[in-house]
Amino acid sequence: MTASSPPPSLIATLPGGHYTDERVFALEQERIFESMWFCAVRAADLGRPGAFRTVQVGRESVLVTRARDGSVRAFLNVCRHRGARLRTEESGEVRRTFRCPYHAWTYDLEGRLVAAPNLAAMPDLDRAAYGLVGVHVREWLGYVWLCLADDPPPFEADVVGAVVTRLGEEGLIENYGVGDLEVGRRIVYDVKANWKLLVENFMECYHCATIHPELVGVLPEFAGGYAAQSFVGHGARFGAEVRGFTVDGSQGVDRIPGVSEDQDRRYYAITIRPQVFVNLVPDHVIIHRMFPLSAGRTVVECDWLFHRDVVERGADLGPSVELFHRVNAQDFAACERCQPAMASRAYARGGVLVPSEHHIRAFHDWVLARLGPASA
Ligand code: FES
Repeated sequence: MTASSPPPSLIATLPGGHYTDERVFALEQERIFESMWFCAVRAADLGRPGAFRTVQVGRESVLVTRARDGSVRAFLNVCRHRGARLRTEESGEVRRTFRCPYHAWTYDLEGRLVAAPNLAAMPDLDRAAYGLVGVHVREWLGYVWLCLADDPPPFEADVVGAVVTRLGEEGLIENYGVGDLEVGRRIVYDVKANWKLLVENFMECYHCATIHPELVGVLPEFAGGYAAQSFVGHGARFGAEVRGFTVDGSQGVDRIPGVSEDQDRRYYAITIRPQVFVNLVPDHVIIHRMFPLSAGRTVVECDWLFHRDVVERGADLGPSVELFHRVNAQDFAACERCQPAMASRAYARGGVLVPSEHHIRAFHDWVLARLGPASA
C-alpha cells in the first residue's frame, strides 16, 4: 500500500524525508543557516569585555565575545594551530585572552594570535595570518546576529526590511524598544523535532483550539484557526474580559512606554527567517531563537523581555511567563509527536495543508529555492 496524494483543492506538504534526511539537513546548514543572518546571542549576555558565548551556527561552533573597546566580536571556535575547540562551555568569561588548552596558543579578544610557546623558534610563522577566523556581526533588537558567508546578504533588506513588511507598518516594532528591554526569564527547550516543523507550527493556528486553551482564552479569535491573517499586520485583539497577556487573563505588568494606544491589547507574531519568532504584546516581548542541531533535534532559547524597571523592582512575572511557556510546551510536544512519523511510509509523499495553512506553502517554496535541485 502506498499513501495517496492530496486532492487538487489541498496543497501537499514537503515529503517526510525532508524532515528526517541528514543529507537535506546538511544542505540546509550550508545554504540557509551558514548563508543568512542568524540571530545568536542576547548582547546583554556579554556584559563586559571577555564575556563569551559559544553557539552552533550550521556546522560551525562560533565564539562570540565582547572586545576591549566594548564591541561584539565573533570567531570560528577553532584554534589555528591544530584545530582544537578553544572553548567548549556554553558561556563564560576570560580576563584578556583565549588560551587554547592543547598547546597554549593564545588569542586576544580581537582574535589576534598574541602568544605561543617557543614562538621565537618559529620566525617564519606570520602571526597576523594565524589569528582566529572572524564572523560577520550585527546588533539589532538587542541581539547579536551572525553571518558566516564571505559576502553577507544586506542586513537592512533581509532582516529589518522583512520584519517591517511582515508587520505591515513601519515603526511598529521600534515602539517596543526591544533592544532596551531586559530578559526577565529565559527557558531553553531541547526539542526532538526538525526545525521546519517548529516554523510551520508557529505559522498556523489551525491547531490553536485543540492544544492551546490558555492562549485561546486570551485571544478568542484564535479559536477559529485563522490567526495567520493577523500575523501579517493587524494584530490579534485580546478578549473583551481579558486584562493582560497572562496565563489566566489577569493584569500583566507595566506597559512598555513606547507602545501606542492602537497597539495596546493586541498580539503580533512574526517569523524572521530562518530561525527567529517574535511575539509582541503591550507589556512584554517574547523572542525564540532556534538552534537546529540535526534533522531531528532543535534547541530553542526563549527570552521573555520586559521594561527594565519592571525587572529591577522584582515584579511578579510568573503569570506572563507561564502563558507562553505553556504554549511552547504544547507546541513542542505536538512537533515531537509528528517527528517520528515523518519517516513513515504513510508520510513519504507528505501530508496536506488545509486552506487556513496555505501560506505555509510559501515557506516550503522558500526552503526548496534555497536548497536548489540537490534537495529533490
Ligand atoms: Fe591549539 Fe595546538 S591546537 S594550541
